[in-house]
Parts: sequence; structure tokens; C-alpha cells
Amino acid sequence: METKDLTAVAALATQLGYPSTLDQLKRRWERVRSEPDRAVFVAERAAGAVIGWVDVHGVHGLSADPYAGIGGLVVDDAWRGHGVGRVLMAAAEQWAREQGYPEMRLRSNVTRHAAHAFYARLGYQVTKQSLAFCKTLTPAAGGEPASEASPDESGTAPPTANTTSPP
Ligand SMILES: CC(C)(COP(=O)(O)OP(=O)(O)OC[C@H]1O[C@@H](n2cnc3c(N)ncnc32)[C@H](O)[C@@H]1OP(=O)(O)O)[C@@H](O)C(=O)NCCC(=O)NCCS
Repeated sequence: METKDLTAVAALATQLGYPSTLDQLKRRWERVRSEPDRAVFVAERAAGAVIGWVDVHGVHGLSADPYAGIGGLVVDDAWRGHGVGRVLMAAAEQWAREQGYPEMRLRSNVTRHAAHAFYARLGYQVTKQSLAFCKTLTPAAGGEPASEASPDESGTAPPTANTTSPP
């Protein structure tokens, strides 16, 4: 993917259900392109117009061995049903294999029935259903990260991002 593709990528993100402006995409792309364990693939028509994209990345945590995850997938609604999504997922899976990931995981809104049929056709199986939670956070005072919290007057340190105290 290249910077010139961002207008089309923003329009496709909007089709995916996440209304996005070109300015937003420029900021997101600056961050995304700098992440080494991440790739974005686009599908183009012969003339070079972008008609789909997929965002894939490595997922690392304490609860599971590393795996690859899909951050987003969309094909222009005028081009669906022509094999574009399959090609994009093949590119994402190939990238994941080359990085050494043994598994691809993804989440899909329960309302996206067409996408569910697509993923099933590509060999994906539903493993569980979850609820998505979100909370708006007020900015940290002074912009300092939470891990900078210092001990209180009792001498016990509050839990921080780096340490935890026994009960
Ligand atoms: C889901 C999506 C990416 C699929 O892309 P696509 O280019 O239309 O899919 P393809 O044409 O590559 O289809 C691949 C296979 O899936 C099957 N398939 C695709 N859509 C299907 C549907 N609605 N029902 C049944 N099968 C379907 C195709 O028949 C094809 O099978 P085949 O190759 O054996 O013939 C596309 O429909 C899309 O962008 N949807 C809106 C955004 C979205 O829901 N994204 C996923 C968010 S989790």
C-alpha cells in the first residue's frame, strides 16, 4: 500500500462501517506503516484504483501463544463476489506464514452474515462469541503514563502498569 491509496482506503473503511476522512487515514497510516509486525495489502484494478484492503498483524500476549490477526478486511461493494476478498485473505495468510505464525484469528460482528459465509468458505470456524466493551478515557494529568504513579502516604505503592502488590 502507498500514500496515494489513502483516499480509496478511507472510502472503503467507511463502507466497512467506520466513517473515515483522508486526514484520519493519513495519521493512522503513519503509525501503521511504522509497525514492523504488521502489513496492509490492497487489491487494485488494472488502472491502479484500490478496490479492497486487508490489515494483518501479529498478536502477542500472556494468555496465548503468538498468532496472526486480521485488523480489517473490505472489498468495494461494486466488486464483491469476484474473488477479491479471497485474494486479499490469501495474501494476509501468506504474510502470516512467512512471519512464522501458526494460526490466523479474526473477529466479525454478529450482524455480518455475508462475511461469515465468506470466512467459512475460506476454512475459518467460529470458536466463540464475545461482547465488545468500550470506555472513553479522560487524558492522563500532565500527559504522564499511569505507570508513573508514586507510593501513597501509607507507604504502600498503588498497582502500576509494571508492578502489583500482594493483597
Ligand atoms: C466479506 C468480503 C470481504 C468478501 O469479499 P468478496 O470479494 O466479496 O469475496 P470473494 O468473491 O473473494 O468470495 C470468496 C468465496 O466466498 C464466497 N462468498 C463470498 N460472499 C459470500 C456470501 N455472502 N455468501 C456465501 N458465500 C460467499 C464466494 O462464493 C467465494 O467462494 P468460491 O471462491 O468457492 O466461489 C466482502 O463481502 C466485504 O467487503 N463485505 C463488507 C465488509 C465486511 O463485512 N468485511 C468483513 C468484516 S469482518
